[in-house]
Amino acid sequence: MLKIPGLIDPHVHLREPGATHKEDWDSGTSAALAGGFTLVLAMPNTQPPIFDAATLDLALAAARAKARCDYAQFLGAGPDNARDVRDVALRAAGLKMYLDQTYGELRLDSMLLWQEHFKTWPKHLPIVSHAESRSMAAVILMAAIYDRPVHIAHVSLREEILLIKAAKERGIKVTCEVCPHHLFLSQDDIPALSGATAGSAVEERPSTTAVQKTDGVRSGRSEVRPRLATQADVDALWQNLDIIDCFASDHAPHTLAEKDGENPPPGFPGLETMLPLLLTAVDAGRLTLDDLIQKMVINPRRVFSLPEQPDTWVEVDENATYEIRAAEMHSRCGWTPFEGWKVKGKVRKVMLRGHEAYRDGKILVEAGYGRNVRV
Ligand code: NCD
Ligand code: ZN
Ligand code: ZN
Repeated sequence: MLKIPGLIDPHVHLREPGATHKEDWDSGTSAALAGGFTLVLAMPNTQPPIFDAATLDLALAAARAKARCDYAQFLGAGPDNARDVRDVALRAAGLKMYLDQTYGELRLDSMLLWQEHFKTWPKHLPIVSHAESRSMAAVILMAAIYDRPVHIAHVSLREEILLIKAAKERGIKVTCEVCPHHLFLSQDDIPALSGATAGSAVEERPSTTAVQKTDGVRSGRSEVRPRLATQADVDALWQNLDIIDCFASDHAPHTLAEKDGENPPPGFPGLETMLPLLLTAVDAGRLTLDDLIQKMVINPRRVFSLPEQPDTWVEVDENATYEIRAAEMHSRCGWTPFEGWKVKGKVRKVMLRGHEAYRDGKILVEAGYGRNVRV
């Protein structure tokens, strides 16, 4: 049995308030514990979005009643809320800036708005950006100009990781995270992911939406932002592991009905598959266990100034070999892009602040046991 520290996931979507049929603070933090995570940082693109004192209170009230692992909640940068978010900054995980199109309402198009937030948000608190490709280059430049740290969410491209490498070499305060789906899946996997296994008749429809189609098969399940990239991009991420500060699941649950329906929302669940996938890669010699702990505990704790969790650890059966099954998961979304993948390494037990929180498939702490680490 392998004993590792409680893992930290700095990027999860728990869907409460507003879309609890996809996930809520209970099901999402249960999925976290089952995946070996004892602390998660929740994103603000809920309904309503979390963008001021009142909406932060709304999310934190739900979390307080229902969370089973520890947590903090991000605030979202909007067009006119720079002062509102600053006033409650210390109660939040950090500020999230959506600079490209993705799921939810929060998006800042004008660089004047970015600037407003860069000037107002306290320098010692985290800013995380959903910024792809050229937006990423622009936000790194802005961080350099305002001399403050910025963390780039879900890096997926070769051009992105190489630019972050160059920025780091110049001493610019940029950190980044990479998601398992961008390390283990590429564009080449889209046909297999595309619901071809759903067993239902494939329905033709006009391709007016952004949905890509492969051989007439709907590809709603493979929709994710950033999109799955080329094998060369995937290879570049693996070749630049040293530049990757954190692994993050970007756990983005949507139901299978939504993924297979009209206008499929982008996003993959990830909390319950991330550790087994990465442990399997450790077993294959693609990274070390020390790399894994650096990127899933030590670095996220440093980047987001998170407290240590006393008497907290995870016991893993390193040699357990099995197939990933959505049916065994705690997430409410009911599917995984890794269905049927053979992995090696299973979470057996999670201790959180001195209590047994999870053992062999069962959640053992009550809803509300989880604590806000920003109080
Ligand atoms: C996320 C979601 O569903 O909330 N979707 C995704 O494809 N990653 C939004 C995001 O993280 O950009
Ligand atoms: Zn994003
Ligand atoms: Zn996300």
